[in-house]
Amino acid sequence: MTLFDVYPINDITIVKAKGSYVWDDKGDQYLDLYGGHAVISIGHLHPHWVQRIEEQLQKIAFYSNSVRIPLQQQLAEKLGKICGKEDYQLFLCNSGAEANENALKIASFHNGRKKVIAFSKAFHGRTSLAVAATDNKNYVAPVNESENVIFLPFNDEQALEDFFHQNGKEISSVIVEGIQGVGGINVADEDFLRKIRELCTEYGAVYIADGVQCGYGRTGKFFSHDFAGANADIYSMAKGMGNGFPVAGIIIAPHIKPKHFQLGTTFGGNHLACAAALAVLEVIEEEKLMGNAVMVGKYLKDELENIPELRRVRGRGLMIGFDVPDELKDLRKNLLWNQKTFTGEAKPNVIRLLPSLALKKRDAEDFIEGLKEEIQMLNSGQGAEVSERTPVESDTTEAK
Ligand SMILES: Cc1ncc(COP(=O)(O)O)c(C=O)c1O
Repeated sequence: MTLFDVYPINDITIVKAKGSYVWDDKGDQYLDLYGGHAVISIGHLHPHWVQRIEEQLQKIAFYSNSVRIPLQQQLAEKLGKICGKEDYQLFLCNSGAEANENALKIASFHNGRKKVIAFSKAFHGRTSLAVAATDNKNYVAPVNESENVIFLPFNDEQALEDFFHQNGKEISSVIVEGIQGVGGINVADEDFLRKIRELCTEYGAVYIADGVQCGYGRTGKFFSHDFAGANADIYSMAKGMGNGFPVAGIIIAPHIKPKHFQLGTTFGGNHLACAAALAVLEVIEEEKLMGNAVMVGKYLKDELENIPELRRVRGRGLMIGFDVPDELKDLRKNLLWNQKTFTGEAKPNVIRLLPSLALKKRDAEDFIEGLKEEIQMLNSGQGAEVSERTPVESDTTEAK
């Protein structure tokens, strides 16, 4: 049997990881500013995370949601405190797509409506409704196409207002990333998010904040939507939640009431997943990682802004993107092969930085130094040899 070849991969086999570093089978060390696609939140193999999981493994790894799992309640309480939404209700599942799928579904159960508003360049996942709300035709199979999803331009308050004024009573939910990740690090305007809140309240629609990539402390606030100072009705989360252990969830405002059997999952919220997720929150709190994300993120952004070749440096905390001009199109692969540094990308020309929230300033300094070296090399016409060794030309950043 072969693997179903849907991932354009780098020709690297990672065999070991620690903190912000990974090592390949040849013993080469790489700085990981990609975090396996924004997943590594507290650092690879953080000792507290390892210990929590190991201890849990000695007790019980899994049982279904047909019995009490006190770890789920502990997780809900800890999460509520750290994210500042203690009156919300937690539903646990396994992936970002599943989280958004459930968010869209529960919104529709709640108000009995069918229409969903999503935005240009949005990415919400690969399952049927999440992918229908994703603005990329390559991911949407004919069976996923849905007239229920309407795409409006991102950050366009007027378009949103006009649409609501004409169709407001049909709209079930509005789903929006606080910072678009796959779309290329596009920050949602605070006014735009407040407008979504206002219109959803006025028309009885549900505001869904997709925090799968931009959430979990990455921007320095728990949810990047929080910068707008307006609460969403449902927040989705995944990636950083388990630091690599598959766990995801949605938190749901108290006015949306649960009914038995409306949502469900076999694996979601299992004992091991809860132990991993609790460890992550404990470390985020103990090591003040949201503060670190702000501090190291600011350093990186300031430095990047001072590099004249790079355009439109943007983002918040440790979710940063910048445009690379055509003359430097090999920059990302040269960073990988010459500087041994993983970064993310978004087509056509964006480099994305999504490191662990525990990234140390001196690692960020090393990165900036290596980046400048590579830019200088490319400016002087060198680096061709490296390009030939590079096998990957991916459609998106989704090498996961
Ligand atoms: C904003 C956003 N939502 C949803 C998803 C889907 O998450 P998953 O791949 O865990 O299903 C992603 C994944 O990249 C994402 O970036």
